[in-house]
Amino acid sequence: MAELAAAWSRLDAAARETEAIRIQDCFTAEPDRLARMTLDAAGLFLDLSKQAWTAAGLDAALSLAAAAGVEAQRARLFAGEAVNTSEDRAVLHPALRAPRGAAFAAKGQPVSSEVEAGRAAMRAFADGVRSGAIAGAAGKPFRKVLHIGIGGSDLGPRLVWEALRPLDPQIELRFTANVDGAEIAAALEGLDPAETLVVAVSKTFTTLETMANAEAARAWLRAALGEAGDAHLVAVSANPQAAQAFGVPAERVFAFWDWVGGRYSIWSAVGLSCAVGLGWERFQAFLDGAAEMDAHFVAAPMARNAPVLLALAHLFNRNGLSRPIRAVVPYAQRLRLFPAFLQQLEMESNGKRVTPQGLPSMHHTAASVFGDAGTNGQHAFFQLLHQGTDVIPVDLVAVAETDEGPAGMHAKLLANVLAQAEALMVGRTEDDVRAELAGKGMAPAAVDVLAPQRTFPGNRPSSLILLDRLTPERLGALIALYEHKTFVEGVIWGINSFDQWGVELGKTLAVRILAELEGGAPLAHDPSTTALIERLRR
Ligand code: F6P
Repeated sequence: MAELAAAWSRLDAAARETEAIRIQDCFTAEPDRLARMTLDAAGLFLDLSKQAWTAAGLDAALSLAAAAGVEAQRARLFAGEAVNTSEDRAVLHPALRAPRGAAFAAKGQPVSSEVEAGRAAMRAFADGVRSGAIAGAAGKPFRKVLHIGIGGSDLGPRLVWEALRPLDPQIELRFTANVDGAEIAAALEGLDPAETLVVAVSKTFTTLETMANAEAARAWLRAALGEAGDAHLVAVSANPQAAQAFGVPAERVFAFWDWVGGRYSIWSAVGLSCAVGLGWERFQAFLDGAAEMDAHFVAAPMARNAPVLLALAHLFNRNGLSRPIRAVVPYAQRLRLFPAFLQQLEMESNGKRVTPQGLPSMHHTAASVFGDAGTNGQHAFFQLLHQGTDVIPVDLVAVAETDEGPAGMHAKLLANVLAQAEALMVGRTEDDVRAELAGKGMAPAAVDVLAPQRTFPGNRPSSLILLDRLTPERLGALIALYEHKTFVEGVIWGINSFDQWGVELGKTLAVRILAELEGGAPLAHDPSTTALIERLRR
């Protein structure tokens, strides 16, 4: 404990020192800065040299990781110990993407052969749908998949499909998550039930939104195809009995396990729709890329470990420099949904204020994450990133090469990501602006007014993650990178990254309020809620 407290103090001290330093000056002061703060891992290139830490800051952060026992906790995770203590569960998403022949065990129970059997079943189903061997009730091949799920049962599949979908797919995926009926109405628009497969994904198979959407989709199938429409239903769940009770035939229920957290589940049968839409080979390549990142995370020394270094960069900002918000900007339209995916991964995992021992957390935990695709974000929120009163660190993601789109456009995209990172760090001094304005003949009084407005403070940190190409392997590695960095942060903050009690209260209250909105007896609420229920009651 004393060692950990000392490591936190050292991080604080290092962070205080950086407050008087400009990031760009560190490159002169630290000749090995680029070598130390950039690295390649699983086909990704990370540049953390534009972060606000000095070499001493990085050392302090590494000492903190050591004192918090990151290596030991990593070993416990991969050994299948019950690291999710509040639910007494192992957390073994790496088992889902491990190469054949792996030997993972969850709380001592071997799981790898079951995982391989599950993967084989997914593959057989995906191949069958794509070849037409598995067809609709009227014999028509499936041309569309409606994927139903929310949170972890939605964000990963949506991201993967948007990132990797062919331009003219043999089988098109549509998604619906929200209990706002507008979403399923739009998702079903133009679909022919006779060639639509409905995949309902829910770890619990009790989630209000997913059950409502699954019922609506089933009714839609039955309205067109009669009872035979049920043959178009597939379920993915860690509660297969509930899926069968819903009416999905046992052979169409793909199971996964309680040791797969919802936001870590894309690697399981939760990815079935993507396997159908992309074809098994590409889905397997996605798993392989993640497995490559797992191997790196397990083997690389802390100082050269991509998830560890990314976690430490974020933690240096969050704790050392008290920055509660981070932006994520993928300069790849196909990765547009990555910020939304990370919002659940990071904020549901680490948005905690109490330790597994039930004590208040001693440190600030997860930052709020927001973002959008670059360059679009540049025309929306980048003004605040460059000149706002808060310093908001940014993760930039870029793809070096692509075959998509007209020649020349990709260089423009890359020029923008590099320009933004440079502008954030270097800024533009008032003297420089003054000289330019004066050079244009502006009157001194006008220069006095305008120059401060056109000055960029700079010294705003960013990380760059570069994919050589947006392949299934690299996408798998990118997601696994962030999964592991989220885990490392949770270990250092001393919280359980794998439960989510904070989502329960609202769900319970919604059930009560729904009964009231539908005419049930009024219940006790605060005056504002009571008045709103009264206004909205039917
Ligand atoms: O939002 C809370 C949550 O429990 C997430 O953790 C989960 O990914 C999502 O709901 C969906 O849950 P399920 O897969 O059980 O429907």
